[in-house]
Amino acid sequence: MHRISLLGSGLIGMFYTMALHGHRGRDRVHVNYSRSADRARDLADKWGIPKHTANLDEAINDPDTDVVIVALPNHLHEQAVVAAANAGKAVLCTKPLGRNADESRRMLEAVERAGVFAGYLEDLCYTPKTLRALDSVRRGTVGKVLWVRSRETHPGPHSDWFWNKELSGGGAIIDLGCHCIEIARSFIGKDVRPVEVVCWGDAQVHPIEAEDHAVGLVRYENGAVGQFEVSWAFRGGMDLRDEVAGTDGTIWLNHWLRTGFEIYTARGEADYVAEKAEGATGWLFPVGDEPGALGYTEMFTDMLDSLDNHTTPRETFYDGYVVNAIIDAVYASIQNKQWQPVNLPIWRGREGVESLAVLRDYDADHVLLKEERMMDGSTKLILRNKKMGQVINRTIG
Ligand SMILES: NC(=O)c1ccc[n+]([C@@H]2O[C@H](COP(=O)([O-])OP(=O)(O)OC[C@H]3O[C@@H](n4cnc5c(N)ncnc54)[C@H](O)[C@@H]3O)[C@@H](O)[C@H]2O)c1
Repeated sequence: MHRISLLGSGLIGMFYTMALHGHRGRDRVHVNYSRSADRARDLADKWGIPKHTANLDEAINDPDTDVVIVALPNHLHEQAVVAAANAGKAVLCTKPLGRNADESRRMLEAVERAGVFAGYLEDLCYTPKTLRALDSVRRGTVGKVLWVRSRETHPGPHSDWFWNKELSGGGAIIDLGCHCIEIARSFIGKDVRPVEVVCWGDAQVHPIEAEDHAVGLVRYENGAVGQFEVSWAFRGGMDLRDEVAGTDGTIWLNHWLRTGFEIYTARGEADYVAEKAEGATGWLFPVGDEPGALGYTEMFTDMLDSLDNHTTPRETFYDGYVVNAIIDAVYASIQNKQWQPVNLPIWRGREGVESLAVLRDYDADHVLLKEERMMDGSTKLILRNKKMGQVINRTIG
């Protein structure tokens, strides 16, 4: 059993507590810190948390806790992680790990220097559908992964600090793109080096310094591509979808809207519908178990099991650092409108990975490019001559 110091009582602090206390688990939030003593008391009263405080150091150094969860705005992650590491406690930090790769590298170094357990709370890599899909990919069901498209769009975040580039480190990319980038890495292989990125991003709707909409590509050393699509200007709720395209198959994932549960109401739903839902009448898309569907439940199981068993969790501070390094390159690409290299001075993956190209021999002289069954019952083959490079049709049957 772990007793936890939870730093923050906002949206994610509430979701984390729901995930930890919502089932009959043994791990408990023991002390909650919030900037506002009233908010800390509210969360404590609602979830049976024994202690609450408006003093950050007091929460981190509480003698009864062994784990610190950082659920604070992005500009406070480094300070909180360093303080938790210095207190000798296991530390779990929400996404994004830092506002940039320099911050997240310092956090990585702090926990490694202190020798404390650390986990990156990237929940969307733990949704039940994602875990199942990752298993299929690991078993080779879709062949080699060529292209992962990950999308998170909604009408914009719920607190002022997200919209302040200084405090958050950016806009929709740092907020939502961090999820999409790590989802793509998980499917492509986290040991494959991200090489370069290109991205368009703009403040299409809101008068802010950062982007409220962006589309980008991350190219990996083996030729695979991760595509992210993020928006704070999307209307209609929260659209969370992923697609995996492999040499031998395809996976489509829809996590939030149109998941198979829809309610129509002419009267209106009296209460909360789902995170970032925009309306309460007409067709609604509620979610049965929000902490479960967003991956929080599986994420804490992996984190706390790994802590108990002295193993490495699926999502580490190193992963958070790689994501930040990719995002730094993404912001540079928006500025200079060109492909931008990903600068990763600390690389712990494989070097010189093989390309994804698949050669299918047809006969001694040709490789098979394509085979298709035609309407007239024949099979058409597209062949390429190995020596000359010439491409020809051949119809059989
Ligand atoms: N899916 C996810 O994993 C997910 C979802 C939402 C938020 N987050 C992350 O969680 C962190 C917190 O986000 P949130 O949505 O809970 O934010 P929020 O605004 O709802 O809550 C922020 C919390 O931090 C406290 N706080 C302390 N100092 C503060 C300061 N100087 N300014 C503002 N708040 C301060 C507030 O009292 C509050 O308890 C962010 O890093 C965010 O990116 C992760």
